[in-house]
Amino acid sequence: MNETLRKTYGPIASDIQQVVFTSDEIQQRVIQIGQAISRDYLGRNPLLVGVLKGVLFFMADLLRNISIPVEIDFIAVSSYSPETRDQGYVRMVKDLEMPIFNRHILFIEDVIDTGLTLNYILQNLRARQPSSLEVCVLFNKPEHRLIEFPIKYKGFDLPDQFVVGYGLDYKEKYRNLPFLGSLQPSVFQNQKG
Ligand code: PRP
Repeated sequence: MNETLRKTYGPIASDIQQVVFTSDEIQQRVIQIGQAISRDYLGRNPLLVGVLKGVLFFMADLLRNISIPVEIDFIAVSSYSPETRDQGYVRMVKDLEMPIFNRHILFIEDVIDTGLTLNYILQNLRARQPSSLEVCVLFNKPEHRLIEFPIKYKGFDLPDQFVVGYGLDYKEKYRNLPFLGSLQPSVFQNQKG
């Protein structure tokens, strides 16, 4: 157990091996991305689209650092099963509420790993003929990438390790850590299912 982190952040941090990016480092980067978006999309009334659930934290902080009018919407996707996920079988379980035809769409992701989820979503959104469609991701894991696409705004490249916090989960836990941390291997090695 990481006693130092537990004392600072409470029981939620007990299973964290090491802090990868502090809350301050994340916030600084989010401010920079928000400023870049505010500059690039001035006068374009973009629609920011997030994919639930992990993006919640990034989306909320990013929005607070964007100084131009924007609108937001969300989708939710689910892979059919852990076994088929790597083959790119994804289905939409919650669609957008707004039409995106002729609109400037900025797609917001918390993490890109294989790229399969994003590939499915981008294909789906592109078919609706937005004026533009760009990607903004906070955490990029390039090592397992199966499909490449341009990323317009990127927060951090991550090493190939199991990380949680700031929206990222393991079995739905740890999302509410304010920093990004690596998980003690014993946590995911000893648990079943
Ligand atoms: C994460 C993330 C992406 C996907 C990226 O979602 O939000 O949707 O994984 O992985 P990929 O590049 O390998 O496809 P997750 O399935 O963990 O759902 P969550 O946001 O609800 O935690």
